[in-house]
Amino acid sequence: YLPIKTASNVAGVLEVIGRPGTGPFHAEDEQLLTTFVDQAALALERARLSEEAAQSAILAQSDELKSALLAAVSHDLRTPLASIKASATSLLDDSVEWDAETREDFLTAIDEETDRLTLMVGNLLDLSRIEGGALRPQKDWYDVDELIEDVRSRTAGRTAGHPVEIAIEPDLPLLRFDYVEIAQVLLNLIENAAKYTPSGTRITIGGRRLPAAIELFVQDEGPGIAKEHQLRLFEKFYRAPSGSAASGTGIGLAISKGLVEAHGGRITLDSAPGEGTMFRFTLPLPVDGKGHESMVTAGLAPGHASEGEAS
Ligand SMILES: Nc1ncnc2c1ncn2[C@@H]1O[C@H](COP(=O)(O)OP(=O)(O)OP(=O)(O)O)[C@@H](O)[C@H]1O
Ligand SMILES: [Mg+2]
Repeated sequence: YLPIKTASNVAGVLEVIGRPGTGPFHAEDEQLLTTFVDQAALALERARLSEEAAQSAILAQSDELKSALLAAVSHDLRTPLASIKASATSLLDDSVEWDAETREDFLTAIDEETDRLTLMVGNLLDLSRIEGGALRPQKDWYDVDELIEDVRSRTAGRTAGHPVEIAIEPDLPLLRFDYVEIAQVLLNLIENAAKYTPSGTRITIGGRRLPAAIELFVQDEGPGIAKEHQLRLFEKFYRAPSGSAASGTGIGLAISKGLVEAHGGRITLDSAPGEGTMFRFTLPLPVDGKGHESMVTAGLAPGHASEGEAS
């Protein structure tokens, strides 16, 4: 029996049994085995150390994430909250007779700031799901036109000041995706297009069919993004230095990427300084290429497609 001794403890014991008829072990056998055991101990120790290092790197990373999130939460969530609170307090104030227009302004502020908060909270929740590997899209069949129309109307407030054009190729097939998550991607892209571009510039939201996917895009006529920042935009908390003082947390695109990839799609951008920016992402068509029609013939109506199938 030979103990496998590491620097800190005994990791195990090596039991050596001689083959029948070979007699007892000699001193040189023992020497050889001791060397072998020392090597094994060293390898074990090295494995343990590198595992420890990886573990503490993960901890440090999640610590960093937590403090960055806290900073983001306290800073970015307070602004809309303050605005909602102020509007509601004013409306409730009995001592003032607000005229119809002012009341409308307060209500609009509450409505829009609530949307902003919803988007931010959705992003934060998705981020923790993506980080924890717990993102599971709840897919069902939806019409891309309806999705874009819905998102368009929900962002009317934020895109005020920009002409918004819808450019959807006709007769796109129904697609299977998680409605809330894909709407979230579009909301993030549209918010960016409105936030980082001068007012008056056009925003185009559209969709088209590719051989094996549907591509959705949001295009703007803003300042564009220099090549050196383009790759890093999808990293969490990365914000390109931009002329505009627009506030943000830097997680919108990181989350959008996570959500698109959880659907088996890809998100990319085309941009150059002075030439605007186009973000586009794909949602794969069902493998048979026929989309929803084949589900109908299989006896499954839209909205009742079987859940839990591999995605
Ligand atoms: N359409 C755009 N035109 C120019 N720059 C953009 C555009 N979209 C994104 N960016 C740049 O990419 C960065 C990252 O965008 P992202 O949406 O991830 O974060 P954010 O908008 O800063 O914060 P939030 O978490 O609130 O979305 C932005 O800070 C901005 O510099
Ligand atoms: Mg953003």
